[in-house]
Amino acid sequence: MSISAALPRVAIVTGAARGIGAAIAGRLAADGFDVAVLDIDEQRCSGTVSAVRGSGRNSIAVSVDVSDEPAVESALARVVSELGSPSVLVNNAGVFFERMTHRTGIEDWNRVIDVNLRGAFLMSRAMQPFLKASSGGRIVNIASVAALGHLGQSAYSAAKAGIVGLTRTLAIEFGHLGATVNAVAPGFVLTDMTRATAERLGVSVEQFVADATRDVPVGRSGTPEDVAQVVSFFVDSRSGFVSGQVLYVAGGPKG
Ligand SMILES: NC(=O)c1ccc[n+]([C@@H]2O[C@H](COP(=O)([O-])OP(=O)(O)OC[C@H]3O[C@@H](n4cnc5c(N)ncnc54)[C@H](O)[C@@H]3O)[C@@H](O)[C@H]2O)c1
Repeated sequence: MSISAALPRVAIVTGAARGIGAAIAGRLAADGFDVAVLDIDEQRCSGTVSAVRGSGRNSIAVSVDVSDEPAVESALARVVSELGSPSVLVNNAGVFFERMTHRTGIEDWNRVIDVNLRGAFLMSRAMQPFLKASSGGRIVNIASVAALGHLGQSAYSAAKAGIVGLTRTLAIEFGHLGATVNAVAPGFVLTDMTRATAERLGVSVEQFVADATRDVPVGRSGTPEDVAQVVSFFVDSRSGFVSGQVLYVAGGPKG
């Protein structure tokens, strides 16, 4: 029997109601996983849940604020009782915030750090017992090229750089369980998150995309499926010797 056949095929994807998380959920379903769709608003998860079920896998929507410690514990308990023990966790839930540092209020700073970084920590910690139970488990964290530094993104950039440190540390701590922990760092991907940013800045989506992709070597913006492709690679049972890595999905380095 192959390692993958022995594993429980249950994956958790946070922030999967839409955008990159929804694409990851769909891709993992195509890869043979039942998928727990976690998001802050359960009602908004129905599209992703239907898509997973449409591809022949089981799926549930679970409402959770990933930055809320008791809520994270309850969400994991629901996944276990309704889908079974998870072997895969994708920490994708995130909020974006762009403002120069001197205009960044402490509430905004806290919210960005809480959802993007504390959320990934809480979810990963709650996942650890299941990694133990299912040697060969996987955690994939969604970072960002912003981790390298970006004008007007001190909170977001710090949170995503924190994700990189968390990824490398968990890879060391969870390695003896046979689990891998990796990160995907997307560049510009057109989603509701980036559309909302264009609106906030008062520019058309077309102009925003043109500006964001001007220096991208492959000459286009990323798609949620581009990110899901790399998550699928990290989750694959044959990728078990790849851990603690950050893979940039950004159409090439900036020149
Ligand atoms: N779009 C991009 O260009 C881009 C680039 C790099 C990294 N990312 C990262 O990719 C991930 C997904 O981004 P997206 O563009 O699909 O964003 P999105 O805003 O379209 O989706 C994010 C999802 O997270 C959910 N969410 C927000 N706060 C939550 C919370 N506290 N608990 C649970 N769920 C919560 C939202 O409801 C939403 O469904 C994020 O971590 C983001 O930082 C995006």
